[in-house]
Amino acid sequence: MQGRDKLCAKLTSAFLRKWWFVLATAVILLLLGIICAIFFGTWVRLFIDHELVLRPGSMTFEWWARPPVRPFVRVYVYNVTNADEFLNNGSKPVLDELGPYVYSEEWEKVNITDNENGTLSFHYRRTYTFQPELSAGPDDDAVVVPNIPMLSATSQSKHAARFLRLAMASIMDILKIKPFVEVSVGQLLWGYEDPLLKLAKDVVPKEQKLPYEEFGLFYGKNGTSSDVVTMFTGAESMNRYGIFEKYNTRDRLQHWTTDQCNSIAGSDGSIFPPHITRNDTLNVYDKDLCRLLPLK
Ligand SMILES: *[C@@H]1O[C@H](CO)[C@@H](O)[C@H](O)[C@H]1NC(C)=O
Ligand SMILES: *[C@@H]1O[C@H](CO)[C@@H](O)[C@H](O)[C@H]1NC(C)=O
Ligand SMILES: *[C@@H]1O[C@H](CO)[C@@H](O)[C@H](O)[C@H]1NC(C)=O
Ligand SMILES: *[C@@H]1O[C@H](CO)[C@@H](O)[C@H](O)[C@H]1NC(C)=O
Ligand SMILES: *[C@@H]1O[C@H](CO)[C@@H](O)[C@H](O)[C@H]1NC(C)=O
Ligand SMILES: *[C@@H]1O[C@H](CO)[C@@H](O)[C@H](O)[C@H]1NC(C)=O
Repeated sequence: MQGRDKLCAKLTSAFLRKWWFVLATAVILLLLGIICAIFFGTWVRLFIDHELVLRPGSMTFEWWARPPVRPFVRVYVYNVTNADEFLNNGSKPVLDELGPYVYSEEWEKVNITDNENGTLSFHYRRTYTFQPELSAGPDDDAVVVPNIPMLSATSQSKHAARFLRLAMASIMDILKIKPFVEVSVGQLLWGYEDPLLKLAKDVVPKEQKLPYEEFGLFYGKNGTSSDVVTMFTGAESMNRYGIFEKYNTRDRLQHWTTDQCNSIAGSDGSIFPPHITRNDTLNVYDKDLCRLLPLK
């Protein structure tokens, strides 16, 4: 019995002496493994958050300021082919869908100022370039489309006094303004001189100057916007990453009736706060619609 015990002790100690290093390493690795398994997600999250923050000079900042993608805008125009018959004979309008007229869009942020409080202020610069090889025709194709300035002027004055409506009708008669205009696709999008707008420009006092010189569906969109946008960079909190703080000194809209509707706390749609779940709502602020668009 004693001999066997001795043998055992000898074996164990010899075994331990030989393998203690391996055992210790195994235990340490196991512990490290467990720690990693528990904290790995958090570390990755911290690392990603750190890399995402928009700091001038970082890679995300360059991508954000000059996105390497070139989106295309495809425009389809309905050409009214029987405008005269529609106006004079009560026929149904015949619409001919033309297009696509393709423009490539280049989004840039310019004059970026770091406010040193977790926000950046900048201007958007959008450059549109016509893509003839992707389009159905040149963008100087002539089309016949509703005269939007005239139709909005008449619909605005629907409830005006009778003499005002009469005055407007005679002005339109004199200026030969018709409910349909013939313009090129490019003019329809980027602006053409409209006689009504021109008249308004001459009549309206200089202080209340109209913001538009011409009428076009995308008028003024090609170029640097005059709006100063202030946006959270994520340095303070990732929850507000890419969310607008202010649009031209205003941090909320004024024309809706509730705080929720007046909020501009959305992004421009190109970046969103990270770590979203299926239940989160992503808000996009659309300046042209003057409201947030909640995306579920
Ligand atoms: C649009 O309709 C007008 C009037 O019918 C026609 O003269 C013109 O050629 C059409 N434009 C195109 C691009 O088809
Ligand atoms: C006016 O409409 C009638 C039927 O609605 C049609 O027979 C006639 O040809 C139209 N005239 C013109 C000039 O289009
Ligand atoms: C750039 O931004 C600063 C601060 O917002 C402003 O003072 C300056 O006028 C801007 N410059 C241009 C060229 O827009
Ligand atoms: C950060 O500073 C800018 C410029 O001074 C200011 O417009 C903005 O409201 C500030 N934002 C916060 C969250 O303090
Ligand atoms: C937009 O502006 C750029 C530069 O100012 C010009 O080259 C380009 O032709 C314009 N695009 C359109 C569709 O007018
Ligand atoms: C999302 O909402 C549903 C129902 O309200 C809930 O069962 C689910 O756990 C939520 N998921 C997350 C990731 O919060």
